[in-house]
Amino acid sequence: MAKDYSKYFTTPSIKDARKRKTKETLTIDYNDYYNIKGFGKNKTYRIETFGCQANEADTEKISGILEQLEFTESKTLEHADLILLNTCAVRENAENRVFGELGRLKQFKKNNPDLILGVCGCMPQEEKVTNRILKKFQYVDLVFGTHNIYKLPQYLETVILSKERVIEVFSEEGNIVENMPRIRENTKKAWVNIMFGCDEFCTYCIVPYTRGKERSRLPEHVKEEVKELILEGYQEITLLGQNVNSYGNDFTDIDYKFSDLLTDLHEMDIARIRFTTSHPKDFNLETVKILSKGGNLMPYIHLPVQSGSNEVLKRMNRKYTKESYLELVRNIYKYIPTASLTTDIIVGFPGETEEQFQETLDLVKECKFEGAYTFIYSKREGTPAEHYEDNVTMEEKKQHLYKLNKIVNDGYLRGTKRFEGKIVKVLVDGFSKNNDAILAGYTENNKLVNFSGDASLIGTFVEVKVTTAKTWFMLGEQVG
Ligand code: 5AD
Ligand code: SF4
Repeated sequence: MAKDYSKYFTTPSIKDARKRKTKETLTIDYNDYYNIKGFGKNKTYRIETFGCQANEADTEKISGILEQLEFTESKTLEHADLILLNTCAVRENAENRVFGELGRLKQFKKNNPDLILGVCGCMPQEEKVTNRILKKFQYVDLVFGTHNIYKLPQYLETVILSKERVIEVFSEEGNIVENMPRIRENTKKAWVNIMFGCDEFCTYCIVPYTRGKERSRLPEHVKEEVKELILEGYQEITLLGQNVNSYGNDFTDIDYKFSDLLTDLHEMDIARIRFTTSHPKDFNLETVKILSKGGNLMPYIHLPVQSGSNEVLKRMNRKYTKESYLELVRNIYKYIPTASLTTDIIVGFPGETEEQFQETLDLVKECKFEGAYTFIYSKREGTPAEHYEDNVTMEEKKQHLYKLNKIVNDGYLRGTKRFEGKIVKVLVDGFSKNNDAILAGYTENNKLVNFSGDASLIGTFVEVKVTTAKTWFMLGEQVG
């Protein structure tokens, strides 16, 4: 008879995740990470990360926990004793990639029965996915969600010592765990979470169910982290949140918003500050004015619009109009004339007409975006749009994406062309992917620049004269 593992299982419920939509307040425990020493000695790990920056930041925390347990990173999947897939649920194709990868890893498990295989991140937060893993991928040893990363040492203890399968996914969050160990990917550029979760409930989006209610980190915790990063020699931080512009709206004892955070960080000795992602409905004029102070506040804003049609925006529950979005864009260009704007757009939202799509194209041209992430709508189980009638054929959706991308690509080129002949400041990341004699880095406006130079320039700021503008990057020469 199959062993009863139920005592180790807590599976998600989309019904519970949805309940919190009506909950007015959430009591947050600001816990410290509980440090337990290691049983990872002589063992290696490998994490495969899918999806957005929030997942990349989580992977850094998971690596930190594992290394504190004395696991070391394996350069290859083949040689790892522990493999974790940190997954993304935002679109179906991202999920299919993970299931494909799980299928491939079955062989690894056959070759090495001691291999521990785990799935974490957003996908396990979906009831359907966790049930599928339970039934169809029985060789997966460990499943946990986005709310309980800090419990990883306990889960591993159970999996390794008791050789039991552990599935623990919480539907509702309730805490922010500070001081988790962290192994950062980069030594000059750092992600800084300022908040977790999302309260927007855009009708197409799974994130409010997978990442839970919006919770802001306390300002002193954010500033403390930035201070430490400065001491460690970091040059650039990117503030992370699903809607950074609503930072602080959940504070009950203090009145401190995103514009206050930017004001305080502007005074600090960090060379570059970026943030993502912004929500147009909460991006206020005060924030635009603070950004116009420049200095370490970079003139680059990612401002997802999703659609240029008021009817579609309404059905998406975006809570702004085309007109208010355009006004915000006008203000950004008025106060920050050098700004580069990029966006996210969904085509083929259920019921989107040809005229509504045309309105999106018009808006893209009017906003002079210098880049965009464009997506075909993907139906997500448990979201309101799942039940919207969708009479747009896949053929039409693909044609719309193609048309849109042509205009978006013109914007990328316009965005690089305007720097031709100009001197830009580049934070050098390393050698170019395609040519290890050429250096690569990003400008203040977040444009990729390639130029020849010495390895000693990596991690420093270099003045570069742009000689040629291409669609996706610029070529230049070091000056001075
Ligand atoms: N289908 C397609 N794109 C989506 N996004 C979010 N949910 C979906 C979905 N169901 C896009 C939005 C968002 C970006 C991160 O992903 O454009 O801004
Ligand atoms: Fe999803 Fe909308 Fe929240 Fe962005 S703001 S994470 S699109 S629900």
